[in-house]
Amino acid sequence: MAEIIDGKAVAAKITEEIKQKVQTLTKKPTLAVILVGSDAASEIYVKNKEKKAKEIGFNSKTYRLDENTSENELRDLIISLNEDENVSGILLQLPLPKHLNGKDFIELIDPKKDVDGFHPINMGKLLTNSSPNAVSCTPKGVMRLLEEYNISLEGKLAVVIGRSNMVGKPLSVLLGQKNATVICAHSKTKDLEKITSQADIILSATGKSGLIKKNFVKSGAVVIDIGISRDKDGKISGDVDFSDIEPIASYITPVPGGVGPMTIAMLMENTLELYLKNAKL
Ligand code: GUN
Repeated sequence: MAEIIDGKAVAAKITEEIKQKVQTLTKKPTLAVILVGSDAASEIYVKNKEKKAKEIGFNSKTYRLDENTSENELRDLIISLNEDENVSGILLQLPLPKHLNGKDFIELIDPKKDVDGFHPINMGKLLTNSSPNAVSCTPKGVMRLLEEYNISLEGKLAVVIGRSNMVGKPLSVLLGQKNATVICAHSKTKDLEKITSQADIILSATGKSGLIKKNFVKSGAVVIDIGISRDKDGKISGDVDFSDIEPIASYITPVPGGVGPMTIAMLMENTLELYLKNAKL
């Protein structure tokens, strides 16, 4: 039987620590979140981020822009937030509506305020081990969970499934920095099961509900579920068939209550860190 990794509890502990630190500050960090359009999942994520930021004692500013916002309007907003010295972190919620290119606008964010760590300068710094201003929240949250549970990575075979800029790519780099041997599998990978069944750690970030079944996992492996999908009744599930795998894994994250709460906790941590690095104290 696997030990269940309680991301909700770890995130609550981290959030409480941040709250305590914020209480000692005379000026509060400000997190600016930009949401363009009305993507249903993004609405929920943004509301949760706003709620957590307020609970912690940050100033939270959410800019809800119309679906038809022009490139110029979005550019002007980002530039004004870059210039506003009260703003500690800027988050541009993705995906953007089709007429706006996410990459172009991420590049406009001041790398010192890039709370997601998505700017190419911060991604490049991550890749070259040279202190990015911030590291992408979900991969950072996964690494923190592994650390909290004393799961050693050195010499282990870690198989990451998914190669997105937000999760798969940065996570593969972070695991490599901890001396894991990393395979980054993806939608074109042949015979995925043959690869994952050799892994000491499987980290799945595909959004394909129930992809990872018992035959994908060797006995005693650590299984980290970063996928999230909703069925037509709104029920949330992960990439991992939990009941199939829980009896054979050594550790497993549930969905919900595993990696998800850590993403928001890391966003709060990144906001505080950017504030402390950049504030004229
Ligand atoms: N969309 C889904 N997850 C994220 C995230 O972590 N950051 C941003 N900016 N957009 C997202």
